[in-house]
This record gives sequence, structure tokens and C-alpha cells, in this order.
Amino acid sequence: MLTALQEANGFTPEDIASIIFTVTPDLRSAFPAQAARELGWTEVALLDAQEIPVEGALPRCIRVLILVNIDRPQKEIKHLYLEEAQKLRPDLAFSHRRLVVAIDGPAGSGKSTVARALARELGLRYIDTGAMYRALTLKILDLGLPLEDEEAITSVAEETRLEVLEREGKTRVILDGHDVTEDLRSPAVNAGVSLVAQYPGVRAKLVALQREMAAEGGVILDGRDIGSYVWPKADFKFYLSAAPEERARRRLKELLASGHEITLPEVQKQLAQRDSLDTRRAVAPLVAAPDAAVIDTSDLRPEEVLERLLGIIREEGNVRPD
Ligand code: DC
Repeated sequence: MLTALQEANGFTPEDIASIIFTVTPDLRSAFPAQAARELGWTEVALLDAQEIPVEGALPRCIRVLILVNIDRPQKEIKHLYLEEAQKLRPDLAFSHRRLVVAIDGPAGSGKSTVARALARELGLRYIDTGAMYRALTLKILDLGLPLEDEEAITSVAEETRLEVLEREGKTRVILDGHDVTEDLRSPAVNAGVSLVAQYPGVRAKLVALQREMAAEGGVILDGRDIGSYVWPKADFKFYLSAAPEERARRRLKELLASGHEITLPEVQKQLAQRDSLDTRRAVAPLVAAPDAAVIDTSDLRPEEVLERLLGIIREEGNVRPD
């Protein structure tokens, strides 16, 4: 394990300041320190400690924390879990409490379904940032403001109180004290939201709120510009895409299921308009961040997309326990 950690992170024994070991109660606590001495790491300060007994914990396990003097950002440090050791301490291990995951992509790419499932799987909050743009659009429509009036819309955005909560896996948006969640998917909002979302003043207001949520951590943000603009330092960035025909088919199914009367050609036209506005706007357009994992979901079922995302998260191995 010591040499595997050394190889994965490229440090030398001279870089090590100290090592802390903990062992499960069924191992002799001096055992790992002996191994380090046998490796020839004789100049290193070592501390051995015993884990408290934890119900359901794996037996015969050792945890190692190596303090090294190397000039490397913490994000690049590789954590290793040998065998099944992520479950060493079921009460602590592989907790994703501080993780930030960005999932971007166009309408109908399947990102909301997958983001929600991923949040459930990892025990993270799920935030649909599109719902925030929709809520503001709803207010503008209710006020009867023309969607071209950038100045008026910007000042409405500035004075609007928006709270975003998560309840039972669904993002609820409280607009000026009223829960408007159920009104965010109407055809009028669908048609207007990309226009409203292009104004820098609107984006500044909503991006600030999204950054507050990202800073708290433990969240999956679903949107258009999360990985590229809102939170480029997200731990994981995914960009989901799908062929336009497939996206339109999915959206149609959703709209029909929620009681809207609409045809496939109409949905296709609306999607094309939204794609065009979202990708061409001047501020934070829809774009895959250069370091995002891009996944084409056209021929994948939601469970398959979820498996890929989980695979990438687990494979990277640098998800910190706690
Ligand atoms: O994901 P959605 O369809 O609910 O998003 C509605 C609109 O909001 C979308 O057409 C563009 C805008 N949006 C955005 O500009 N930035 C985001 N992070 C999320 C959505």
C-alpha cells in the first residue's frame, strides 16, 4: 500500500514529513510502522493508532495518511483504496458531503433524470439551475413585460427574491415568497426562458446564488454553464448531449405526459430555437468545459448513463473520504 501510494503520487521517501496509520481493532497497531521501517523509510516520523470498533466495518484494514512536502494542488492527490476498503468505516468512508458535480447539456439530453438519480445514489443535493431561469421568466411574463426589454428585466432580476430548495429530489423555487415550482414548465415559460436567460444582469443574479450553493458543497448542479462558468473547479464535470431528433422525442413525451397538447414538429422547432439562443448568447453560452466528460446519450437508457457517470466518479479514485 505504501509503495502503491508512492507510485500513484510520485513522491520520494525524502519528501515525506510524517505518516499516520490507523488499524482496525483486530490488527496489532505497530504492524504498519514496522512495514514502513522495513521499506527503508527510516527517517520518517510515524504514528500508529487503533480504530475504534465500528459496527459493519471491514476487518483487518489499515488507513494511511502520508504528509509530504510536494508542490501539488490538493485536487491532484490520488487516494487509493485497496480491495473493498472504501467500506472500511461505513460511518465515514466514501462520504461525498463536500463534492460538487456539474452536469451540463442542452434540453432533452437527459441530464435532469440522470443528475437526480446520481444525487440520490451519492447522497448529494440536486439543484436544477434551469428552474431558476424559469422562475424569473414566469415573473417577467406575469408582469407583462416585453421579453426584449433588457433594462426592465434586469432591474426586476435585481429586486427579485429567489430561494432554491430541494424536497424529495425536486428543486423547488420560491419566488418572492411563493412556491412557483408547479408553474415553471408551461409552454409560455418554455418559449421565453432562453431570451430572459441571455441578459447579463439576469445571469449575474442567478449565477451568484448558484455559486453560493456550490461553495457549500455536497451538491449536483444541473445546467448549461456550470462546468464552464459557474463553478469551473467542480470535482466532476459532465456534458451530456444527444441527437436533436432524440431530444425532441424525449421532450414531446414529457410534455404530453404533463397534459400539454403539442406535436413533434412544434417541439423540434422550439428546441432548435432554444439551442440556438443558448449556444450563441454572449455571456456563458451552452458549451462543454474543456475538461468535462462528454457523453452522447442518444442510444443510452438513463440507467446506462448513470452507470457511466458513477463509473467515472469511482474510477478517478480521488473522491476524498470526508
Ligand atoms: O434546463 P431547462 O430546460 O429547464 O433550462 C431552461 C433555460 O434556462 C435554458 O433554455 C437556458 C437557461 N439556462 C441557462 O441559461 N443556464 C443554466 N445554467 C440553466 C438554464
